[in-house]
Amino acid sequence: MTLPAELLNRTVYLNGEFLPLKDAKVSVLDRGFIFGDGIYEVVAIYNKKPFRMEQHLDRLERSLDKIKLKNPLSRQGWKDLIAKLADTLPDPDQFVYFQITRGVAPRDFGFPAADTDTTLFAITSPFKPVPQAQREGGLTLTKLPDLRWLRCDIKSVSLLGAVLAKQDSLDAGVDDCVMFRDGYLTESSSANVWIVKDGKVYAPPRDNLILEGIRYGLMQEMAESSGIPFEVRRITEAEVDAADEVLITSATREVVAGTRLNGKAIGRGDYAGKPGPVYHKFYAAYQEAKKRLCG
Ligand code: PDD
Repeated sequence: MTLPAELLNRTVYLNGEFLPLKDAKVSVLDRGFIFGDGIYEVVAIYNKKPFRMEQHLDRLERSLDKIKLKNPLSRQGWKDLIAKLADTLPDPDQFVYFQITRGVAPRDFGFPAADTDTTLFAITSPFKPVPQAQREGGLTLTKLPDLRWLRCDIKSVSLLGAVLAKQDSLDAGVDDCVMFRDGYLTESSSANVWIVKDGKVYAPPRDNLILEGIRYGLMQEMAESSGIPFEVRRITEAEVDAADEVLITSATREVVAGTRLNGKAIGRGDYAGKPGPVYHKFYAAYQEAKKRLCG
């Protein structure tokens, strides 16, 4: 595939240097390439200001600790890098992707010697809002078994499970999936999933079976300030089937409604197959939070 010229010329960050993407090269023996041995983050930027940056840096730290990889930058170092990268694009709203891998070493499964340098890569892109049709009509979803590993709490660059789940969804003719493990809801291919029943929001536990999105804490805060009851507990497949609303959250999709599941409309009455009242409250609260935090 030939990359578009705009992308080839875009400034990226690689191991201490800002340079055009076309000149950014990594060794084929990088452990990110060979083993998927690395961690990443995706941060939304609004008005050139990162949204909930501290929480993203906290999660980065947790993921790095879990795979015993030293954080190559200080907190201020990350903030400076991202600010500088965001300044290379004219767009006020962007999303920044950054990843750290265990660096270049001979192909051995065990960790390389302690002095191996990590590989640090970062790229920013114009923020792509959820298309209007999906914003207004909601996402179509399919149910899939969660076939990923048991450390989904680590934001690892080993994403084959997510890639296959997304592609299976697209092949089924829908936008995305909700996944289940042992009969319980986990998450979507690259987003968290929430259900609403009788005005109350339910979210799966923050355990090793899901990635705790940065929107987890935010949803809880927004629920509290909007007077929406909120409970974190295991959610059965039958409860998802009977939900009044399904919500999907991530840095790139903010909060969006799921409106069809396995071909059936989600919800009841006037809102069957349409984004519901709780979704609308969260969406409005999200836009407020963006204004409050990023101006
Ligand atoms: N994905 N669960 C999974 C498996 C994810 O990959 C993501 C984010 C989330 C939501 O996390 P957050 O609210 O912090 O974005 C949950 C990002 C956007 C991605 O991989 O592109």
